[in-house]
Amino acid sequence: MTDLALWVKALHIMAFAAWMAGLWYLPRLFIYHSQVSAGTESSEKFKVMERRLLRAIATPAMLATLALGIALGVIQGQWGEGWLHVKTLLVLGLAACHGIMARWVKAFAADQRPASETGLRWFNELPTVLFVVIVCLVIFKPL
Ligand code: HEM
Repeated sequence: MTDLALWVKALHIMAFAAWMAGLWYLPRLFIYHSQVSAGTESSEKFKVMERRLLRAIATPAMLATLALGIALGVIQGQWGEGWLHVKTLLVLGLAACHGIMARWVKAFAADQRPASETGLRWFNELPTVLFVVIVCLVIFKPL
């Protein structure tokens, strides 16, 4: 493997770790946020935390993960391999989770409660399941 490929892979791993941190922590913040009343000091603080986590970490990290992943596939000539096609589909699932959370950040900022606490707890598990399958796919490359 060339030095370039190794650097791109290292940056890809750093980027997806940061993206996953956002996808795991945002639903946690939503759960805490939904436990306090609108208009309180805590509610305003959660709004700032949610906005900053989404805009300063999760969204840039997602874009970097996707760009570096696509580049890695090109550099290593892997775009014809089945595991990468399935992985890309699952990554689209993660991106959809990201999109839903971005909508919820907006809804919470407008003092709405877009999902029940139980719903949020269930939703919290979805990025984890996708993450586990993606990492296994990339390591074992069964296809
Ligand atoms: C469009 C999105 C993505 C594309 C196209 C992509 C593509 C790739 C490619 C081509 C590799 C090199 C694999 C190898 O040569 O062994 C790689 C490595 C890796 N990717 Fe991604 N990736 C994407 C997103 C993600 C995401 C979201 C995660 C985690 C949630 C992830 C986790 C990993 C891991 C752990 C490795 C390192 C595997 C190793 O050590 O060899 N990727 N990715």
